[in-house]
Amino acid sequence: MDTTDNHWLKPNTAKAFKDQHKAIPYQELMEDTIAWCRPRPGERWLDLGCGAGQLTRALWAASGGQLAEIVGSDCNPGNEDLYLRQKLDPACPAERRRFVLCNFSDGLKVFPDGHFDGVVSGLAITYAEHKDPKTGKYTDQAYNNLLREIRRVLKPDGRAVVSVNVPDPNFVSIMTKSLGSAFRIRSAGKAFLNGIRMLYTGRWLRKEARSGRFHYYPATEVARRLEQAGFPAVRHRLSYADQAIVLRADREPANSSTVQAA
Ligand SMILES: C[S@@+](CC[C@H](N)C(=O)[O-])C[C@H]1O[C@@H](n2cnc3c(N)ncnc32)[C@H](O)[C@@H]1O
Repeated sequence: MDTTDNHWLKPNTAKAFKDQHKAIPYQELMEDTIAWCRPRPGERWLDLGCGAGQLTRALWAASGGQLAEIVGSDCNPGNEDLYLRQKLDPACPAERRRFVLCNFSDGLKVFPDGHFDGVVSGLAITYAEHKDPKTGKYTDQAYNNLLREIRRVLKPDGRAVVSVNVPDPNFVSIMTKSLGSAFRIRSAGKAFLNGIRMLYTGRWLRKEARSGRFHYYPATEVARRLEQAGFPAVRHRLSYADQAIVLRADREPANSSTVQAA
C-alpha cells in the first residue's frame, strides 16, 4: 500500500468515520449485518476493517457477552485506541478482545488457518488494493486474495458476513438521509464536520474506484467472487438506504439455510 496517498491511514479519516454509527442508515446496516452473523456463545470472531469497533460492539451484545474472543483488525493505527476504548455491554474481559494492525491488501498472514467461527466486515473489503509493478495499473488481485484469506482463517463450518457499498455509491444521499439522526447526536457541530470529512473521503474513494484501485461491484459479482474463493453458499440483500449490500458466505452450505432469505 502506498502510505503517502491512502486516506484510510490518516488519523483524520479514523475520526471522520467514528460517528458514522449514529446515522439512521448505518444503524439499519448494522442490524442487517448482525442478524446474519448470529453469534453464539464460545465463538471466535474477527471484525475486519473494524474502524472504531461498532460492529464488534453490536456482535458482542448480540452474543450476550459470551464470545470466547473478538479481534478487531484495521490498517489505521488511529483506530487501535478508538477500538479498545469502545465500551462493550456486557463488560468484556480485556483478554477476550484485541486489536491487530494489519493491511489486508497483503492478506491475513497474522491469523492462523481455521481460527475463527465468523468474520464480519463492514464496508471495508472494497479497499483491498494491488498495483501491478510491471504495468503500473491497479488490479483485482488483492481483492480476490482477501476473499480466499477470509475463507482460510475460518473454521470448516465458519461463515463470513460482509457489507460493501453498491457500485458508484451516492455518499451525498447517505448524508442527507442521515440528517434526521443529527438530533440524536450530542455534538451536532462535530458531527457536521465529520460528515464533511466523510463526503471528502467519499469523493476520493469514487475517484480511485474509477481507476480500478478500489472495487465497488454489484451484488452478483461479489457473490460470484466469494463462490470462486471457496464459499459454496452466498446470500445477499440491500441495506444502508440501498447504498450497501450485505452478503453472508458459508463454508458449509447447510448452515446457509439458518439465515432468513433476502
Ligand atoms: C468505511 S470504514 C468502516 C469501519 C467499520 N467497519 C464500521 O463499520 O464502522 C472502512 C474501514 O476499512 C479500513 N481499511 C481500509 N483499507 C484497509 C486495508 N487495506 N487494510 C485494513 N483495513 C482497511 C479503514 O481503515 C476503515 O476503518
